[in-house]
Amino acid sequence: MKYSMRILAVATAATLAVSANAGSHNLVTADVNDPVTLRINIMQNIGAATGLSAGMLKWEVPFDPITAQTALATINTGALALAGLFPAGAAENMRSTAGPAIWSDTAGFNTAMAKFIADSSAAKAAAPGTIDEFEAVFTELAGNCKACHKSYRIKR
Ligand code: HEC
Repeated sequence: MKYSMRILAVATAATLAVSANAGSHNLVTADVNDPVTLRINIMQNIGAATGLSAGMLKWEVPFDPITAQTALATINTGALALAGLFPAGAAENMRSTAGPAIWSDTAGFNTAMAKFIADSSAAKAAAPGTIDEFEAVFTELAGNCKACHKSYRIKR
């Protein structure tokens, strides 16, 4: 059971590490008056923390509980900060990959955001001390990324 969970987590993590990398090549200057630039930067930080977590689960980066807990706290901080950054009628930004479903299905998007906040809060509160504990909470948390992106992100 533990073994198959690790394989699943590593497969998920590998996909995430790729998307985290893709984001980091395209830095967008944060402008306090433009929520689009803020959310892109927050997502990139979430991507970096996720890439680090995935690296530890693939044994590419040595596991360290404080590093793991800091990565979870970074993802949680991002989740908490993101919720207010998708106002209707924000100026079109060609760099944004936010999908129209965010505004046509706001209730669904808010539900996905609330789950991301809840799962990342629980992961942080669990304060995993071993790689097995970390893997369990991270796998649960990482399911949020793909689920939300599938419905609420577009390709540019
Ligand atoms: C509730 C929805 C939701 C969840 C959960 C979510 N994302 Fe996102 N993510 C988005 C949206 C929407 C965008 C596009 C934002 C924009 O460009 O305006 C995005 C964009 C990104 C980007 C691209 C940033 C860039 O450079 O343009 C990365 C990387 C990313 N997310 C990583 C993650 C990771 C890793 C997780 C899980 C730990 C995650 N996201 C969870 C909705 C979500």
